[in-house]
Amino acid sequence: MNNIALVTGAAQGLGLAIAERLFKEEYKVVLTDINFDAAVAAATAIDSRAERVIALELNVQNKASFESALPQTIERFGQCNVLVNNAAMTPTTSVMDISADEFDQVLSTNLRGTFFGCQVFGKYFGEQNYGRLINMSSLAGQMGGVASGAHYAASKGGILTLTKVFARALADQGVTVNSVSPGPVDMPSTREKVPAEKLEHIINTMIPVKRMSSSDFIADMVVMLASENAGCTTGACWDSNGGIFMR
Ligand SMILES: NC(=O)c1ccc[n+]([C@@H]2O[C@H](COP(=O)([O-])OP(=O)(O)OC[C@H]3O[C@@H](n4cnc5c(N)ncnc54)[C@H](O)[C@@H]3O)[C@@H](O)[C@H]2O)c1
Repeated sequence: MNNIALVTGAAQGLGLAIAERLFKEEYKVVLTDINFDAAVAAATAIDSRAERVIALELNVQNKASFESALPQTIERFGQCNVLVNNAAMTPTTSVMDISADEFDQVLSTNLRGTFFGCQVFGKYFGEQNYGRLINMSSLAGQMGGVASGAHYAASKGGILTLTKVFARALADQGVTVNSVSPGPVDMPSTREKVPAEKLEHIINTMIPVKRMSSSDFIADMVVMLASENAGCTTGACWDSNGGIFMR
């Protein structure tokens, strides 16, 4: 069974919700994060005996970090079949105030990190003739972003494009590459990042269904895209945005 998954940025938030759901679906899961201590704490909370969950330090800005995590995963679990490129920075700096350094920092985490993940794991998956790459994009990448920064929105738009590029490159090697594009997700981190008043305004005036997306459902979508049955879905973007953006 192809059920060994590595999730980036999995110490908290959506990455953690996705890792927990994969674990429930009988996956062996590698929780990775730049914050190693938090990743270890999260992994221990899911599987205190570390039988099906381990934590690794992985900074998505560095290709070498992916190149180190892959053999460690294979050594522990024998193989790897699923990569969820979830790690991201989500600053909300207004567009005219973003410095060159901040722009580069966000792009090198969100976009280049996803690029390295697809390169390193995509190559390995292709050699195995099987694999699932799932990239977390965002409604901001489709519409330009309201609450999030321009650099964040641009990085997420780039992820949609990279998803198609890698999907095409790996299509004949049994590897699918898809993205998931949530609108605002109802999580503590979202409520921390967006002032309460602004969030209520967004919910009531901008979201047709008048509620934020559920992290459980996002995790469901990831599990579905990760499944062996999903072999004919590639280069796609699955949305969960409450009807804000309709194709
Ligand atoms: N929360 C939302 O409403 C929402 C909406 C749309 C899309 N998303 C996407 O979902 C994903 C998760 O979002 P979240 O809200 O849970 O984020 P979060 O900020 O709560 O968690 C992000 C995680 O990534 C880690 N991280 C940051 N930089 C890293 C790096 N260089 N290398 C490795 N790990 C790093 C952080 O330590 C943290 O654990 C992101 O890709 C985000 O763009 C979230």
